[in-house]
Amino acid sequence: MRGLFWHIFSRAALIMLILLCFRECNPMPDPHQRDLMLKQEISQQVGGGVELTPAELQLDSLLHQVKLKEMIYSPFPPANHFFKVRHIVQKSPVFKLLQKMPKGAALHIHSSAMVSVEWLVLNATYRPQCYICFTWDGSLQFLFSTTMPFPRWGCFVWKRLDMLRASLSDVTAFDNSLMRNLTLFTEDPETSYPTQDAAWDRFEKIFSALSGLINYAPVFKDYIYEALTELYEDNIMYVELRVGQSKAYELDGTTHDRAWSLEVYRNITEQFRANHTDFIGTRIIFTVHRNLYVYQVKQAVQEAIEMQQKYPDIVAGFDLVGREDTGRSIWYFRDALSLPSEMKTQLPFFFHAGETDLDGTDVDRNVLDALLFNTSRIGHGFALGHHPLAKQLSRTRGVAVELCPISNQVLKLVSDLRNHPAATLMSDGHPIVVSSDDPTLFGTTGLSYDFYQAFVGIGGLSANLGTLKEIAMNSIRCKINSYTSFEK
Ligand SMILES: *[C@@H]1O[C@H](CO)[C@@H](O)[C@H](O)[C@H]1NC(C)=O
Ligand SMILES: *[C@@H]1O[C@H](CO)[C@@H](O)[C@H](O)[C@H]1NC(C)=O
Ligand SMILES: *[C@@H]1O[C@H](CO)[C@@H](O)[C@H](O)[C@H]1NC(C)=O
Ligand SMILES: *[C@@H]1O[C@H](CO)[C@@H](O)[C@H](O)[C@H]1NC(C)=O
Ligand SMILES: *[C@@H]1O[C@H](CO)[C@@H](O)[C@H](O)[C@H]1NC(C)=O
Ligand SMILES: [Zn+2]
Repeated sequence: MRGLFWHIFSRAALIMLILLCFRECNPMPDPHQRDLMLKQEISQQVGGGVELTPAELQLDSLLHQVKLKEMIYSPFPPANHFFKVRHIVQKSPVFKLLQKMPKGAALHIHSSAMVSVEWLVLNATYRPQCYICFTWDGSLQFLFSTTMPFPRWGCFVWKRLDMLRASLSDVTAFDNSLMRNLTLFTEDPETSYPTQDAAWDRFEKIFSALSGLINYAPVFKDYIYEALTELYEDNIMYVELRVGQSKAYELDGTTHDRAWSLEVYRNITEQFRANHTDFIGTRIIFTVHRNLYVYQVKQAVQEAIEMQQKYPDIVAGFDLVGREDTGRSIWYFRDALSLPSEMKTQLPFFFHAGETDLDGTDVDRNVLDALLFNTSRIGHGFALGHHPLAKQLSRTRGVAVELCPISNQVLKLVSDLRNHPAATLMSDGHPIVVSSDDPTLFGTTGLSYDFYQAFVGIGGLSANLGTLKEIAMNSIRCKINSYTSFEK
C-alpha cells in the first residue's frame, strides 16, 4: 500500500518536474497549449460557436482562400475611402459571393435614402409635372405640381424639368449632375468633405433635396417597391425602415397623414410579396430629429404609441435621428421617452446611440442611456467600446449593435475600416448585425457592400463563414426579439 503510494507519488513528482523543467529549462512556449489558446480565441468570435455542415465547411475553405488573396490587394479596399474603391469591391470575388449569400434582415435603413440614385434621377424625375429649383446654396429642391410652384424653401425660380431638359444639348450630362447632387458619392471625397461638419452639412442638404421627390404620392409607392426590389435582389428577406415625419403629397398640394403612409407601406409590401413569396415583410420605426424640443418629441412618442396600437403588424417602434454630436442627448429627452412606461404601454425603442467619437461628453452617454431605456438594438454603437458597463449590458441582454461600416467611414468617424471599433466586438462575440444606413447617399444598394467591409476589413482573416452565418441569423433573431417585446 505504502509502496504503491510512493510509486504514484514519485511518478507524479517526476511529471511535475518535467513540466516545470519544460517551462523553466525550455525557452519555447508549449506549441500544443498555444494551439489550444488560438482555437479558444477563435471560438469566442462572432460565429465562433456556429456549427457548419460539410458543404458549408467546403465553402468556408474556398472563402478563406479567396479572401487570403484579397488581403494583399493594393489598394486594399477597406483601408481606403469607399468612394475611391467601390469599383474594386464590385469586382472582388468575395463581394460576389456575399451578394449571393442570404443576408437575413436589413435592420438599419432610413426610408428617405433607400434606393439607388440612378433610379431616382432616371425614373422619378422623368415623371410629368416635376419642377426643379436650384437654391442659392448650391443644392436642389423638387416639387410635383399642376401649376408653377410658389417661391419657397429658398427657391425663387422653379423650372419644369421636361421643358428644362428639352432646352439642353447634353441631357445625360445634366442627369449625371443631378445624380451628383443627390448622393455624397464622389471620386474625390477627401477634398469634398474635409471634416465631419462638411460631410454632415451635405448629408442634411441632400435629405432636404430628396424630400420633394420621394414624397410625391405616386413616386412614394413605386419608390417603396423599388427599395424592396433592390434589397430582395441582394438576398435580403425582411426590412425595418426608419421613417421620419415628412408627409406624402398629391399634385394639388394636399397631404396625406401618417396612417395613409403606413397603409401604403403595408399595401406595397403585400403587392411585393405576391410576386416574391419568400420575402417576409417590412416594418416601420418612427423617427424624430434630435434637434427638436421635449414637447415635440413627446407628441411624436404619443403618436407612435397610437400608431403602434392601430397598426401592430407594421409599426416596430421609435428612434431619434440626426447627428448626435450637435443634437440633443437621449437623457435630455428622458421625460418624453418615459411616456410609454408611464402609460403602462409598450413602445420598443431602437436608438441611434454612440455614433460619435466625442468620448466623455453628454452625447457619449447615449449608449448607456439607450440601454437604460431598454432599447431593442443600438444604432451604430461606435462608442460602445469606451463603456464597459454598457457593453456588458448590451451583451447579456442580446441587444445587437447595428453596424454600418460605410456610413461610419463616409461620415468620418474612421478612415481605415480595419481600425473600426467593432473589430473588438466581433472578436469578442458581441451581438451585431450589419446594415447600410443610407444607400442612396453612400452609393450602395443592398447590404453586400457593408457585409464586405465587415467581413474583410473589420473581421479580418479570422472572420469566416460561421461569422457571416451568425450575423445573418442575428438579424432574424433581433427582428423576432422586437416582435415579441411588443406582443408582451
Ligand atoms: C418608373 O418605374 C415604374 C415602376 O417600376 C414604371 O412603371 C415606370 O414606367 C417608370 N418610369 C420611367 C419614367 O421610367
Ligand atoms: C448640382 O447640379 C447643378 C446643376 O446641374 C450643378 O451646377 C452642380 O454642380 C451640382 N452640384 C453638385 C454637388 O454636383
Ligand atoms: C391599401 O389597400 C387596401 C385594400 O386593397 C385599400 O382599401 C386601401 O385604400 C389601400 N390604402 C392606401 C393608402 O392605398
Ligand atoms: C407580379 O405578379 C402578377 C400576378 O402574378 C403579375 O401580373 C405581374 O406581372 C408581376 N409583376 C412583376 C413585376 O413581376
Ligand atoms: C426597462 O425594463 C425593465 C425590466 O423589464 C423595467 O423594470 C423598466 O421599467 C424598463 N424601463 C423603462 C424606462 O422602460
Ligand atoms: Zn442611421
